[in-house]
Amino acid sequence: MLRSLRNFRWQEAVPRIAADFMIVHLSMIAAMAMSVVYQAGAGNAVAAYAIVSGFLQYYTVFFWVLSPIYPLVFLLNGFYTHSRAYAGRYKALVVLRGVVVAALIFFAANFLLFGYAKVGRSVALPFVALAAVGTASVRILKDLFEKRYLLKSKTTPSLARRGDWVLVVGGAGYIGSVLVERLLEKGYRVRVLDSLLYGDQPLRPVRSHPDFELIVGDCRNIQDVVRAVRGVDSIIHLAAIVGDPACDQDHGPALETNYAATRMLIEIAKGHGVSRFLFASSCSVYGATDVEMDENAAVEPISLYGRTKVDAERALLDARSETFHPTILRYATVFGLGYRPRFDLVVNLLTAKACQEGVITIYNGHQWRPFIHVRDLVEATVRVLETPVRLVSGEIFNLGDGRLNHTLTEVAEVIRSAFPDVRVEHIDSSDRRNYRVNFDKLLRRTGFRAQYTLRDGVDEIVKAFEERLITDYTDLRYHNQRYLKAVGSPAHKDEVDALVMAAFSNHSQDHTVFATAHASST
Ligand SMILES: NC(=O)c1ccc[n+]([C@@H]2O[C@H](COP(=O)([O-])OP(=O)(O)OC[C@H]3O[C@@H](n4cnc5c(N)ncnc54)[C@H](O)[C@@H]3O)[C@@H](O)[C@H]2O)c1
Repeated sequence: MLRSLRNFRWQEAVPRIAADFMIVHLSMIAAMAMSVVYQAGAGNAVAAYAIVSGFLQYYTVFFWVLSPIYPLVFLLNGFYTHSRAYAGRYKALVVLRGVVVAALIFFAANFLLFGYAKVGRSVALPFVALAAVGTASVRILKDLFEKRYLLKSKTTPSLARRGDWVLVVGGAGYIGSVLVERLLEKGYRVRVLDSLLYGDQPLRPVRSHPDFELIVGDCRNIQDVVRAVRGVDSIIHLAAIVGDPACDQDHGPALETNYAATRMLIEIAKGHGVSRFLFASSCSVYGATDVEMDENAAVEPISLYGRTKVDAERALLDARSETFHPTILRYATVFGLGYRPRFDLVVNLLTAKACQEGVITIYNGHQWRPFIHVRDLVEATVRVLETPVRLVSGEIFNLGDGRLNHTLTEVAEVIRSAFPDVRVEHIDSSDRRNYRVNFDKLLRRTGFRAQYTLRDGVDEIVKAFEERLITDYTDLRYHNQRYLKAVGSPAHKDEVDALVMAAFSNHSQDHTVFATAHASST
């Protein structure tokens, strides 16, 4: 329980603690009133009079002393700090548990401290019931209010408009190249800053588009970044060393690219008056958990990659201001065909193996992952860009669709439905990643629902093999870690880059995850 206090934030918690405190007091007043009415109605005027006359003394002295027990127990139960379990449908159970425990402690304390002033059953029972219903109802009402309010907001104009300049950092990758094409289709002017780690081929379809600009550069290089940021309205930051194995390959470039360069980009963006900043994080920040995670759940990444994402998220949220509006997008695991399909991602990899080798290996088949087709992910990203800023500024969104949470065994079943003869091997491994994710917030605020199923993705990869668009899935350029191992980690352009990155690696005390990661890398 005490671990949940790590995430305590006064500004967020105080209004909610005050609301719960008021509910508890109103519940006691209402329970007393109900008891008086009941006793009077039953012709028991003496008992009714006794409650009324004892009420003032009990309420003003004893109840005031004990009532903080409620918010205190709620706090320890993670109501105000978003413990890992305070998410999705588990939230109702956590609320129920908190209310019951608080009531038990309250009455035990009441009896022990002020035994003579204990309240009768006719007050105690309605009080417990009202307090439980009250605390649960405000939470439900808050959700309903949010839904109503958000529906209305859909009619208000968005900040991002056709013709705006959008900078896509890392726009030549698997996601970026599909995103760039979609933004151009929608009428945006698009600039890409990318060091072309995996080549420029993914951008070939858009290279001659009149509204497209490519800056071949490194997001760790201050001059490249300043050049790229100048004159843009929004930034979508995708550039990273992507995936656990690729980051583990060489910690230095991973920490610089994923964290320090993001911090530099934030400062340069703010300096140039860029108002919107969408950041590609990952659902892998949730680590290993059996609980369905929503955006309020505490993050516990179990890899360097996940830790760099968490620290970059914090840097962005800390940088939010009246004029700078960051939004964190925690992407589900991508599948499907793009201009740089990655075959180091589970659905694509298993499909390719089934197609070319007739056998697939499932590691830890019971583990959950959220999946999303690359075109759906791009669509959702564009929707967030086009959502009114007040609904997304400083917000975190899990980006995916709840219907695409699957166990790895289910993924194998989908592949087997496309390849009935495929042999499936199950193996247990030390990989602990396991997370099921709640995407309701994205649905509520943007209306996004995925169009593509896992099977759609499998089918289009199979078709790509049949049409010989892809001939060898083991080719290095489809695998981040293997590619970086073969060609070596991206070097700095000059010495200054190393110094600047070192400076941006020095962070506030809040970014302790990075500190741990950095320590373990040296
Ligand atoms: N693909 C997924 O399943 C997935 C899931 C969750 C989050 N994400 C996030 O989405 C983003 C894009 O992922 P992706 O799958 O397209 O990855 P990718 O590896 O295909 O693309 C990354 C791009 O960043 C560029 N890049 C890397 N270092 C750079 C640097 N120093 N300067 C400039 N450019 C640089 C690379 O050249 C590449 O084009 C990443 O931030 C990733 O963490 C991806």
